[in-house]
Amino acid sequence: MKITRKLILAFGFLLMSGMAWAKSQIVIETAKTGLVFTVGDDGRLYQSYLGKRLPAKSDYAGLPLGKEAYQAHGMEDYFEPAIHINRADANSSTLLEYRSHETKACPGGTETVIRLADPVYADEVALHFMAYADEDVFVAWSEVFNREKKAIELEKYASAMLHFYAPKYYLTQYDGDWAAEVRRHTQELYFGKKVIDTKLGARADMFAPPFFQLSIGTPATEKAGEVLVGTLAWTGNYRFTFEVDNLGALRVLGGINPYASQYRIDKGGSFRTPDFIFTLSQCGTGQASRNLHDWARKYRVKDGTGNRMTLLNNWEATYFDFNEDKLLKLIADAKELGVDMFLLDDGWFGNKYPRHSDTQGLGDWDVTAGKLPNGIGRLTDEARRQGVKFGLWIEPEMVNPKSELYEKHKDWVITLPNRKEYYFRNQLVLDMSNPKVQDYVFGVVDGLLTRYPGIAYFKWDCNSPITNIYSNYEGHDQTHLYVDYVCGLYNVLKRIEAKYPDLPMMLCSGGGGRTDYEALKYFTEMWPSDNTDPVERLFIQWGYSQVFPAKVQCAHVTSWNKDAGIKFRVNVAMMGKLGFDINLHDISAGELAYCKQSVADFNRLKPAILDGDQYRLVSPYDGNHASTMYVTKDRRSGVVFAFDIYPRYAERLYNVVLDGLDASAIYSVREINRADGSQGEARSYSGAYLMTVGLPLFTGNKLSSRVYELTAE
Ligand code: DGJ
Repeated sequence: MKITRKLILAFGFLLMSGMAWAKSQIVIETAKTGLVFTVGDDGRLYQSYLGKRLPAKSDYAGLPLGKEAYQAHGMEDYFEPAIHINRADANSSTLLEYRSHETKACPGGTETVIRLADPVYADEVALHFMAYADEDVFVAWSEVFNREKKAIELEKYASAMLHFYAPKYYLTQYDGDWAAEVRRHTQELYFGKKVIDTKLGARADMFAPPFFQLSIGTPATEKAGEVLVGTLAWTGNYRFTFEVDNLGALRVLGGINPYASQYRIDKGGSFRTPDFIFTLSQCGTGQASRNLHDWARKYRVKDGTGNRMTLLNNWEATYFDFNEDKLLKLIADAKELGVDMFLLDDGWFGNKYPRHSDTQGLGDWDVTAGKLPNGIGRLTDEARRQGVKFGLWIEPEMVNPKSELYEKHKDWVITLPNRKEYYFRNQLVLDMSNPKVQDYVFGVVDGLLTRYPGIAYFKWDCNSPITNIYSNYEGHDQTHLYVDYVCGLYNVLKRIEAKYPDLPMMLCSGGGGRTDYEALKYFTEMWPSDNTDPVERLFIQWGYSQVFPAKVQCAHVTSWNKDAGIKFRVNVAMMGKLGFDINLHDISAGELAYCKQSVADFNRLKPAILDGDQYRLVSPYDGNHASTMYVTKDRRSGVVFAFDIYPRYAERLYNVVLDGLDASAIYSVREINRADGSQGEARSYSGAYLMTVGLPLFTGNKLSSRVYELTAE
């Protein structure tokens, strides 16, 4: 073909328009999801797409412009903005134009930063999107820079804003209260706003954990439907807003709750919002959960790929009523049980005000001499002698008014100077915004570890929301307190992490009052609920498993709902990070033998339960049974748990259809962990059979359970 001048010009034009396209569209992809932004002719940034990854990049060019990506307050938008800035000249409008973007590789994927700026004011906003390719997880946050001559104030500051346009939207939330955590509710969204938020401050998630599931079009099931699962990594007040507008478009905003939290940014300063983490699954909630589990273990949770210790905790065995003798016996019990660690809970500290109940002593972290005359050292020595690790409970952000700390440092306490104090669990919250308090809290951990190097683990509790909100330290910046509290906590946790990088810790907050992925950078596991009734736990573990892997969910066998029998109670706890909160002398020899066998079984099954893929097979919400299975990453082995809760008379029973197996492999399947210690006979089935026909695992018996182990032949 003769190359004419005309052709060269045409080719040049195509190249240029290609370049123009490349410049104006920003495509962020994981293996299965695409998120596309377009710079409009008006120079502003629009979200053109969030959905299944399209095979040809050129397809994205045909997308409609979409909605403005990070809506600002005060211009032509009529719905909830992502950002609202107050300025010294009383003009609180913001307009954000695209300036630049860059994408770089990061472990597991890419990080894209899109820079926006106001053409009139010198405010700048950077939108960050990390895309984890294999896990299909996005982590989004924004950063606001004040390049003005005067301070600006953030009135609203979402981490991210996402847009959807579909005929219907269904929101699933998980809410409850102390001992009634994560109860699932689903509703259709119509015009207007649905807000899930918390204003509790420290024990922020007591009524609702910071996560949700949003089904697009039809309600997602475990295995079908398009669903966005989102969570905010923030150990404080959060807010999710879902707003359907007049045209049926939905915007989703996630971020710090701006309630009573206007935040000043001084000239030259910046503010980084917390991570809004989300995954979009095209095949139901099960896949979304597995995406998050994989991502969390690999990239987020402290020691996410490491081992976890089984333990015996004294809390429900003794409550505050213990002495050295009792504890020495419990340490020996831990050894007998075969667990890795003994954990000493609340009640070991305070001398002027010994911690004999939750009414006093909190804040005075010296060992109660009358109770433990030979100190913690005697206990860690005994643990070492018995060959178990020693863990200790602390609640370092809190204080009882009846304590020496309160008497010495009332100025460190969040409390109103001119009002009667209101107490939640007889205690108050320390002012973590104050660097001196941060030093003190770090010192609690550091001091204990220095004095007692035998401590191998902490359970870090936090039993009170922030009440009587006033900080001596913040002065005129009282609206900074909720945010600075959390930042202060992170400062302390970072220092602990830097000095004791291998120290495992449990995140606890009066049960599940703290359950977020920022705290889990510093904690290896969390305590989901004080409700350890195994039937309740089936629902609680089901709820948290939507977002968190079994590895971070502590699950303890206790005496709650003894009717369920030891097998049922242990089997439920084996589906998380197994522990015991029980007096071994209150159970029979047979029950003890069962517990010991279960610890051994659990240790063998850890690669599937803690590090494998979880499949929720039968939901306790759907009837009188429940079943969950775990498969190792290589699909060579797995374990299925099946529970009959309260079956009806003559109820019809259906097979449990398994999942996640290699269809072409032959698995040897046998019942293990039977009440009498025996095992069932092994039978062989193909993966295809197990995932098509399934197994008759349910019975008509009340409160009964079975565990089946699968091994590829
Ligand atoms: C609340 C926790 O959730 C419990 O496990 C226990 O540690 C108590 N606090 C101790 O006060």
